[in-house]
Order: sequence, then C-alpha cells, then structure tokens
Amino acid sequence: MDASRRSFFRNLAGALPASWLAMQSKLAAATAGTEDYWRVVKKQFPLSEGLIYLNAANVCPASRPVLDRHQEFMRDFQMDPSFQNRLKYDKHQESLRAKLAKHLGGVDVDEIAITRNTSEGANIVVNGIDLKAGDEIAITTHNHPSSNDSWKVRARRDKLVIKEAPVPIPPRSKQELLDSVAAQITPKTRVLIVTHLTSTTGNRYPIKEIGELARKHNLWFHLDGAQTFGAFDIKLRDYGCDSFAGSAHKWFMGPLEAGVLWVRKERHPELWPSIVTAGWADNLKGARKFEVYGQRDNPRIVAFEAAVDFIDMIGMPAVEARLQQLSTRLKEQLVSVPGVKMKTPMDWKLSGGVVKFQVAGKNTTELYNALYANHRVALAQTPSGESEGLRFSPHIYNSMEEMDQAARIIRGMA
Ligand SMILES: Cc1ncc(COP(=O)(O)O)c(C=O)c1O
Repeated sequence: MDASRRSFFRNLAGALPASWLAMQSKLAAATAGTEDYWRVVKKQFPLSEGLIYLNAANVCPASRPVLDRHQEFMRDFQMDPSFQNRLKYDKHQESLRAKLAKHLGGVDVDEIAITRNTSEGANIVVNGIDLKAGDEIAITTHNHPSSNDSWKVRARRDKLVIKEAPVPIPPRSKQELLDSVAAQITPKTRVLIVTHLTSTTGNRYPIKEIGELARKHNLWFHLDGAQTFGAFDIKLRDYGCDSFAGSAHKWFMGPLEAGVLWVRKERHPELWPSIVTAGWADNLKGARKFEVYGQRDNPRIVAFEAAVDFIDMIGMPAVEARLQQLSTRLKEQLVSVPGVKMKTPMDWKLSGGVVKFQVAGKNTTELYNALYANHRVALAQTPSGESEGLRFSPHIYNSMEEMDQAARIIRGMA
C-alpha cells in the first residue's frame, strides 16, 4: 500500500468496521484500473445477485463499508442519546465539511453547507436571494423541477420573469448549448440556473464557458450538480458558479437525505437562510447559516463522511474514467441496435453517466416494465415528450459484462 493510502486510513476518525479493513486489503492487492480492481469494488456493494442496477442517476446503493459505519453510529446514538455522547457528532459534521471542501476541488470549508439533498440546496438559493418585480431568471427546459418549478413558484409570488432555454436533443456542440443559454440573457437577468449534466437526456453543459457568461453579465449562477457530484472530478473554483448543490444518495453512493450546498463566500451576504431555529446565531460562520434545521440525523452525517472517504479512496479521476469506459461501451453497443435512437451525445465531452435512448416502434413503458420484470434490469424511463426513452445510468459497481448484457437484452426487444 502506498504512503498516501496509508495516511488516508489513519485519517479516518475512530475505529474502522471490519468491512473497511477487508476492503482496504483487497483493494491494495489489486492493480488500480484493471477489471480485477473493479470486481473488488463491485463486491463492496450489497446489490442483489442477478440484478443489473442501472439507475445511479436516481439513487445509488451505498457500499457495505459505508452502511456498516452508518449502522454502527445509529446504534451508538440510540444506546446513549445523551448530550455528552452526542458531542462527538459536532466534530464529525466539521470533518465532513472539510472533506467535502477538499473533494469539491479545494474550496473554502466555510463555503460548505450540509443539506438534505440537491432540491433543498436549490431551494435555499431560490428563496434566499433578494429580487424585485420584473427581474429575470434564466433556466433551461431540462433543469429538474427543484430548479425550475421552484423558480416558477417564486416568480408568481414576486412577479419575476422566467426565460427558458430550449435544449437540443442531442446537441451537436458545446457552442450550441452555450448559445441556447446566452440567448435568454437580457439586461434584466439576475440569476442563471444550469444543470451540469441533465437527467433527461444526459447533456453535459459547458460550465466554464457558462460561468464566464454569468460573470460578464453579473448574474448569480447556480449549478445543479445532482448528476455530477460523485461522478465527475468537480473543481468548483474553475467553473465560475456562485452556488452548487448535490445529493449524497445519487452518484456519491452515500446515505439517503444528505446533500451539499456550496455558496461562494463573496455571495454569503446576499443569501438569506430559509430555515432558522435553535442553533442560530447572527455570527454563524459562512455557509453554516444555511444548515440550521434543528435536530439533525447525526449518524447520517457520519455515513456521508464515510461515503466521502470511500469515493476519495478510489479517487475521482479513476471514478470518472471508469464511468467513461462503462457508458461509452454501453452507448456504442446500443447505437448499433436497429431502431435505437440515442438521445444522449456519443461524445464523452458532451455527456456523462446518463445514457438515454428510444426504441423506434416500441412502447417505452412496456419496454421499461419488461426490462425489470423479465430481465432484472433496473432503470428509469421518460414515458412521453421530447425526452421520451429508456435511461441507463451505470456506475462503478457495474461491470463491462453488464453493459454488454443490457445492450443484448435491448437488441432482443427492439
Ligand atoms: C438534475 C437533478 N437535479 C436535482 C434532482 C433532485 O435530487 P434530490 O431528489 O436528491 O433532491 C435530481 C433528481 O433526480 C436531478 O436529476
């Protein structure tokens, strides 16, 4: 084991469950990046035998080491819920914050709020910025409802104007995506919300260029990272965004109902907290003022911290490279099936782990139901509309063989 990995394990707080130690030695024995290595990774997940789980874009399983850590602390909490025993959770919350700040490309620890999911992070921004009637908000038609319906509700309340950028399916270039966003911006635009990678058709937006556009027009740029937190090697400082939200239970493979909101520190004075209760103080430091919710589910915070440890032990460049391998293999095989129309760009630079396609002449919902009922393939579907199709979203617990098998099943059904 190399020195950095040794020091990584030393830095894990407290005694490690046996599954961590077992994983540590098995991963150390495998050569990183090989199929053997990924087989060891796959074995850390308690997915049912025979289930081909291709729905990371919705919810990911947590690995056994993360689950064991979660369980251990749930028991600890319930065995002794005293203030004295719970004091240690403050330290975990702060060490989670520090680990997330590092994970997101070395941002300031005071810029991190620990939320409950991407939706909450987005809504803290929606409800926290002062705006006046007539101000414009630029969105894209493929943002999630947490970034679109939330702004439409606020727009009704405060007489704001929403401008929606249409989304090409699939886009031909970064420029086409950038142009569609730029066309919505006017002198009245105050906020821009873009999804790093869309859940609808798997488009990757050119974030740095959009960040430059936002800076040029002095906009608050919120980046929805639900489909990239835990999938891409995120470097927030490079993107030019003002806020970013992600969920622990998607690609990050952490506990349900945990998430992160990053807010650039220069913007903190402009953002009101959405929830204020016990624990509030006017001098709360940085983004901590956005996470005052009253009693938290403390063991979940430890599980989130374990999920950061798990994913950072594998390393985001390796995770991202594996996702590229898996999704490219899947797309290349699917596109060769007669009748399959890809809605996701084939080019990795314009896409990510979300693979969306439609099968000509077939009812999408019938295919979706048959895939799970007859073949034990778990996936998502959009039953109608411009994004209609089946969505596969593989992750590091999937194998190359599963990509081949899923494509073979589609070939048999097309
Ligand atoms: C792009 C995008 N944003 C936000 C969300 C909301 O995530 P959550 O339900 O974890 O808040 C999702 C969920 O699928 C999503 O795909």
